[in-house]
Amino acid sequence: MGSEFNKSLSDKVAHIEGILKVFLPKEEGYAKTVIEAMNYSLLAGGKRLRPMMMLEAYKLFAGDDADEKVVAPFMTAMEMIHTYSLVHDDLPAMDNDEYRRGRKTTHAVYGAGMATLAGDGLLNLAYETAVAGAIKGPKLSAYDGDNDNRYLSALQILATKAGIYGMVGGQCADICAENATDIPEDEMKDTLHYIDENKTGALIEASLMVGAVLGGATSEQVSMMEKIGSNVGIAFQIQDDILDITSTAEVLGKPIGSDEKNGKSTYVSLYGMDNSKAKVKELSDEAVDILDNLGFKDSFLHELFQYLIYREK
Ligand code: IPE
Ligand code: IPE
Ligand code: MG
Ligand code: MG
Ligand code: MG
Repeated sequence: MGSEFNKSLSDKVAHIEGILKVFLPKEEGYAKTVIEAMNYSLLAGGKRLRPMMMLEAYKLFAGDDADEKVVAPFMTAMEMIHTYSLVHDDLPAMDNDEYRRGRKTTHAVYGAGMATLAGDGLLNLAYETAVAGAIKGPKLSAYDGDNDNRYLSALQILATKAGIYGMVGGQCADICAENATDIPEDEMKDTLHYIDENKTGALIEASLMVGAVLGGATSEQVSMMEKIGSNVGIAFQIQDDILDITSTAEVLGKPIGSDEKNGKSTYVSLYGMDNSKAKVKELSDEAVDILDNLGFKDSFLHELFQYLIYREK
């Protein structure tokens, strides 16, 4: 992938960080410590892929010049939910990891109690932010679909995909399957599919779907975006599992070997390294095909999904 792509990727990350900062809570009052912990986690860096996908999906349907104020609170909410999921994922009671996004994890700096609250605070603030956007945001552009409350639909997608029918459900199955030596291999493969589709796929699906809904996609187009998100999300998690073995803590900004330490079943542990790499490519190619068939062959998302197949962090 050329340096032009890398330049626009870093421009987009900087643009998104500018948006996030607008919505950050002030570090003051009796809740100051938890707010500091929230901002510490949110501003630690990170690839910002979910808000990026949301904005790009929005522009696919609303046009490049569409008002970003529509989608900005939802982008921020998505990154808050994602960040909370990482803060909790790293807790001693879950994956027990010490580094994230190149820094000490939130619990390592603020303690497990405050990190738990920082996650709770981020999750709640996500909805406060998105609901405020839906109430006060610009009127949505005219569209010829049958959804007469697209802001409300976007909120519903965000909430559902983050919860027990999405990310939380996936994390539940992920924990239940730790050190699962007594589960037959076929059953474990089905479970792993559920885990990857939900713990990671669900938020990526939601990012693309919310962008599409707010941008004026029809319900059929939104379903296609969901399928794309599912493929990209599962591929993303398989790549994460690959990098947990092949990368370094310096490059990733988080420890390697976390999965083995915690007795996790991953695509790599069940299918092997070569099959895992092939699967990342296969799922991503299929996602790109669906995107192209929707008429978006020349989009940034097309390039992004191809770039992610070979991501190194
Ligand atoms: C990490 O997500 C957790 C997974 C779902 C694999 P990212 O790799 O997107 O993490 P950041 O946001 O860039 O830190
Ligand atoms: C967790 O998967 C995905 C989340 C929902 C946070 P991992 O546990 O593999 O994510 P990392 O490797 O810690 O980022
Ligand atoms: Mg985990
Ligand atoms: Mg983890
Ligand atoms: Mg991992």
